[in-house]
Amino acid sequence: MRTLGIETSCDETAVAVLDGDGRIEFAMLSSQIATHAPFGGVVPEVASREHLKALPVLVDQALQSAGGPPDLVAVTAGPGLIGALLVGVRFGAAFAWGRDIDLVAVDHLDGHQVSPFLDPDGGSARVAPTPVLGLVASGGHSAWYLTGEEETVRLCRTRDDAAGETFDKVGKVLGLPYPGGPGVDRLARLGHGADTVFRQPRLKDDSGDFSFSGLKSAAIREIRSRGLEGLGEERVGKAGHDLMASFEAAIVRQLLGPLPEFVREHRPAVITASGGVAANTLLRRELEAAGAALGIEVLLPSRGLTTDNAAMIAWAGRLAWGRGRRDDCRRMDVNGREVWHPPGMRRQLERQKAGKQVSMAPQGEYR
Ligand code: KG4
Ligand code: ZN
Repeated sequence: MRTLGIETSCDETAVAVLDGDGRIEFAMLSSQIATHAPFGGVVPEVASREHLKALPVLVDQALQSAGGPPDLVAVTAGPGLIGALLVGVRFGAAFAWGRDIDLVAVDHLDGHQVSPFLDPDGGSARVAPTPVLGLVASGGHSAWYLTGEEETVRLCRTRDDAAGETFDKVGKVLGLPYPGGPGVDRLARLGHGADTVFRQPRLKDDSGDFSFSGLKSAAIREIRSRGLEGLGEERVGKAGHDLMASFEAAIVRQLLGPLPEFVREHRPAVITASGGVAANTLLRRELEAAGAALGIEVLLPSRGLTTDNAAMIAWAGRLAWGRGRRDDCRRMDVNGREVWHPPGMRRQLERQKAGKQVSMAPQGEYR
């Protein structure tokens, strides 16, 4: 069973081919970062057009380089930019229809969630032990999920900005190139943070949800009051290094805040992190340390598999296919928003809010 994965939800056109054991036979990515950089963020219409140009070229290369023709197409169908998603979904559906092979629509977040189980060096994918307690932190999402045999439950999420978005917006004010996360990471490595610079937000409930918008505003205020605005990576100096170390630590502290409680409550077999922010040096280090302290294995994707890629989409699609999922080439649609969190999950969240124990009892599929 060979799977062709297609990912076009945002600003990377990615194509991969995995064999039936999840070995990555081909993975290539055409990044649009340079195209969008002058605008300081992704321009949706430009993204769609770039996908349209790159996708046929990458698929052509995939067909030439993989071990054989694909038997299944897995394509990201949401959440993401509508126009960008449409390019991938229509291409994938036409490809599957033309070759008379199966098609599976993949939730981008499902893709991130399986990325820690892939081997970047071409080995088989690891079978995920359950339950998995997984953090997804990217440019568009920040949430902890619990994945059992039957379904995935979201345990908490951000109420406003995503962690990656917070890195990007603050990096932009500092004069870092888009996306700002990697630059902030590099600056923070040179500095010494202090817990006293940024306060943690206090939500009025005990949901464990995140809020990054106050931290973003506070960081921007500090950058301006310290005269660091627009200086860029080379010129921010020690003040910039220290400020970014404090800022990064405040994000990581918040992301990992609910971890001990979730571990106590759900007793996961493994803890994972995925999404672009899972490339962050401090987050990786702190998560490893937390896992060691709690006595639970921590599994992180290789850095190349943290950001958007098609290997994760192919594998998530292949696993869903194994659970019986099939999509109709002629009817498949895209979902721009995070809409695929099903009634089962809503029920779980209501139970959780009402103070009831959240169980992993089978309540239907993830979507
Ligand atoms: O998963 P991803 O490629 O795209 C989305 O699905 O959003 O994540 C991109 C995000 C960007 O916000 C980027 O700044 C952030 O991941 N990022 C990082 C690092 N590398 C990428 N954030 C913090 N530290 C990093 N080293
Ligand atoms: Zn992503």
